Amino acid sequence: MTKEEARRRIEELRELIRYHNYRYYVLDSPEISDAEYDRLFRELQELEEKFPEFVTPDSPTQRVGAQPAEEFGTVPHTIPMLSLDNAMDEEEVREFDERVKRFLGTDEDIEYVAEPKLDGLGVELVYERGRLVVGSTRGDGFVGEDVTQNLRTIRAVPLVLLGDPPERLEVRGEVIMHIEDFRELNRRRAEEGEPPFANPRNAAAGSVRQLDPRITASRPLDIFFYGVGQVVGREFSTHWEVLQALRSWGLRTNPLNRLCRNVDEAVDYYRELLKIREELPYEADGVVIKVNRLDLQRRLGEKARSPRWAIAYKFPPRQATTVIKDIVVQVGRTGVLTPVAIMEPVHVGGVEVKRATLHNQDEIDKKDVRIGDTVIVQRAGDVIPEVVAVVKERRTGKERPFRMPERCPVCGAKVVRLPDEAAHRCTNSACPAQVKERIRYFASKNAMDIEGLGVKLVAQLVDRGLVKDVGDLYFLTKEQLASLDRMAEKSAENLLEALERSKEREPARVLCALGIRHVGEHVARVLMDHFGSIDRLAEASADELESVPGIGPEVAGSVVDFFSHEENMRVLEKLKRAGLKFEVEKEAAGPLSGKKFVFTGTLSSMTRSEAEELIRKLGGEASSSVSRRTDYVVVGENPGSKLERARQLGVKTITEEEFLRMVGKG
Ligand code: IVH
Repeated sequence: MTKEEARRRIEELRELIRYHNYRYYVLDSPEISDAEYDRLFRELQELEEKFPEFVTPDSPTQRVGAQPAEEFGTVPHTIPMLSLDNAMDEEEVREFDERVKRFLGTDEDIEYVAEPKLDGLGVELVYERGRLVVGSTRGDGFVGEDVTQNLRTIRAVPLVLLGDPPERLEVRGEVIMHIEDFRELNRRRAEEGEPPFANPRNAAAGSVRQLDPRITASRPLDIFFYGVGQVVGREFSTHWEVLQALRSWGLRTNPLNRLCRNVDEAVDYYRELLKIREELPYEADGVVIKVNRLDLQRRLGEKARSPRWAIAYKFPPRQATTVIKDIVVQVGRTGVLTPVAIMEPVHVGGVEVKRATLHNQDEIDKKDVRIGDTVIVQRAGDVIPEVVAVVKERRTGKERPFRMPERCPVCGAKVVRLPDEAAHRCTNSACPAQVKERIRYFASKNAMDIEGLGVKLVAQLVDRGLVKDVGDLYFLTKEQLASLDRMAEKSAENLLEALERSKEREPARVLCALGIRHVGEHVARVLMDHFGSIDRLAEASADELESVPGIGPEVAGSVVDFFSHEENMRVLEKLKRAGLKFEVEKEAAGPLSGKKFVFTGTLSSMTRSEAEELIRKLGGEASSSVSRRTDYVVVGENPGSKLERARQLGVKTITEEEFLRMVGKG
């Protein structure tokens, strides 16, 4: 290869890589596989190694180059980076809309752009003639820190813009860390004995503010752009137009942004986003509502620290401060003792929280949580509330440390801590607390899905000695049930019917419902696909189990252990006698053979697990996330972000009625 050929190929490769970055990050629609992308990248690296004279700082290979800095330089913002006023409820948003109209002297609807307010670190990037020259933090709004070298390491930050960028562009965005990446990062930090980050925002901010860009490069950061500072060489008339232009230059904007004709639509947007908040892969703490027309924005102008043309409509916070009144111990289905903090009630994420898990003694020791402490509690989605940290400044000296009891608080049996385990366990498998939890798990939605068998009923059944294990459930009589507190004849009948219906569940669900350690829905399915029956599985050796793809020694060990206990085998006998399905029904290639389905929203005719089971019976596959390989997304009521994703990927969406027809139930 001649020098000239190398130069041309290098140019070509850089353009290709930039284009594919754009497909991947901005359009979320890659054209080539990761492996092909890596090949292009490696080819470029090799050519640049052979011809170092052609290496330029804006080559995609040059993201991490700089040496650690002694300290950050400062960068003044040409136009201050303001903060936002908050609205805590709908009324305050409507007041904002009224203020805008009053100020502009109009009664007409104001057009707004509504955007997710991402919870990360605000930054500004400056591009001159399409090339990234400086990146800075928001700082005090007027002067930020020079974090150019760190921001360059974020793959979603283009080093060179695409299309027809302006002479000078100051663009603003939020650096974030995805929730899954955040959890993984904390897991690694825990392994390496480093303190965890309290939340994704702190993790993102801490990663950007590293003096060594190599550390930043090792952190999974991402960015969304939401506005501009100074722009030279291009005029805009609306904010929406700004967002479209950013996208066309390869600067990723949030696909959830929406143009709203008036404040009502902005309020609707807030409600929709709040509903899918838990499904978002990143933290959003509210919605930013911005006047769309830039001439109106200019007329409205700014107050001291915030513009009059925008407002942050906040979601209910998911963290709050409260006091721990006591720490009690709960016994789970496998006998694990979980310490639970009993707290002064406090509102977190829109619900009142009084209890939070403290996980185990190690966690308590690590966070140094004591009875009487003021703590930060957090609630995310359906996750059980947890104590994030102690506010040590509030200590009075009267706080009392907590120790695990030596005897089970429910049955009095000895408590042990097995080597290599963080958990303490009650050693009595007949402990009423364990039995109750096992039954609850057995009856739960994703297991046998026995409607009407709630906590209180289970407690009564066990306390009155009517049920000692899950097998006994199927031999209950109407008279026995009707004799219980608050149990009318009708509800007794309903429960018996629900039990009867549960006998139809496929063997993989029965297996999962047994609550064998490490055997959840997925593993249960793998095992049943392989062994074909629970009886065959019960006879399998550890070696045989480990030879099944996807089954490791931990699962194998725990399966063998479960079936080696005589009392478990007795329970299985009872279940079999009751008529539960232990054998997989072999069906010829079903009508849905090879088809992949994903559900979003609520179905009206059946539960999601029932629908998924139906699909599998007919030879199809049900999965929880949408990808290009998905064949159909079934859209129920109040669909979530999967619908959006399906549209982006061009995956076919069908209604519940269409789905029912497809499975022969319509
Ligand atoms: S607009 C003057 N849009 O929130 C307008 N900000 O409290 C200021 N943020 O510093 C910003 N997502 O770091 C805007 N879609 C979004 C945002 C957003 C997150 C952050 C940003 C800003 C802070 C303001």
